[in-house]
Amino acid sequence: MMTNRVQGKVALVTGAASGMGAADIRLLAEEGASVVGCDVDKAGLDALVAELKDEGLTISAAALDVSDPEAWEDVVRFTEETYGPISILVNNAGIYVTPGVEDTDQATWDRTISINQGGVFYGMRATIPSMRRAGGGSIINIASIHGIVGTELATAYHASKGAVRSLTKQAACQYGVEGIRVNAIDPGIIETAIVANARKFIDMEPMKDLIPLKRFGDARDIAYGVLFLASDEAAFITGADLVIDGGMIAIQ
Ligand code: NAI
Repeated sequence: MMTNRVQGKVALVTGAASGMGAADIRLLAEEGASVVGCDVDKAGLDALVAELKDEGLTISAAALDVSDPEAWEDVVRFTEETYGPISILVNNAGIYVTPGVEDTDQATWDRTISINQGGVFYGMRATIPSMRRAGGGSIINIASIHGIVGTELATAYHASKGAVRSLTKQAACQYGVEGIRVNAIDPGIIETAIVANARKFIDMEPMKDLIPLKRFGDARDIAYGVLFLASDEAAFITGADLVIDGGMIAIQ
């Protein structure tokens, strides 16, 4: 059912070719936004965007490596020229890496920090001037429950996601005065390519028992959180974390 919860807004979503980003662009467009999806996987993104266009949604694709600050300038310009000033930014692109502290080599550390943490910073820095032209907006940064609690693995990933949460709170404090809200979503275990890949290293199934709702999430569970924070229903929410994890970190 379409309810036009983000009617007339222009949205930019990173990591849109698969998983949560793919669910985000679909739902935001279904709810009335004009959407630009970006990804390093341009071929995958083009195929998805063609499908969504065929359904009558207002949507375009752009190639973007979120760790490249100059490429961000091009994407923001493209979005503004295509649909107008940006009022929703979803910094969703991210990579998961498994090594712990001593096994994390320099390249893994640098790559993870530059995509997961740098990408969020570059995205906010490049997009906020456009949001100002839009008269305000909503930035949604996809962190993780791994930015709140630890696990035995994934040192660089944990570090990057903790940083996304604090970047979010800092930007919320700086830009509230201009009507720009900045919030984080902290997904739990969500059935996407990241989890399919993690299954190669870890037996994931027993984890379902540790989750109060007894299942992993799907991408649409996160997209509904994105939609809420993007919409004017969340007009008094900024600097917040929205944990969407089936209760995984609520339980002791
Ligand atoms: P996914 O692997 O299905 O999708 C990620 C997308 O980002 C892919 O299309 C990929 O091509 C793109 N991407 C990767 N590096 C990029 C770059 N440098 N520039 C632009 N695009 C890039 O992953 P998923 O699960 O949908 O993850 C989305 C976000 O959610 C990530 O930030 C991830 O860390 C976070 N997350 C995922 C969880 C999960 O259980 N799946 C749990 C908590 C957080």
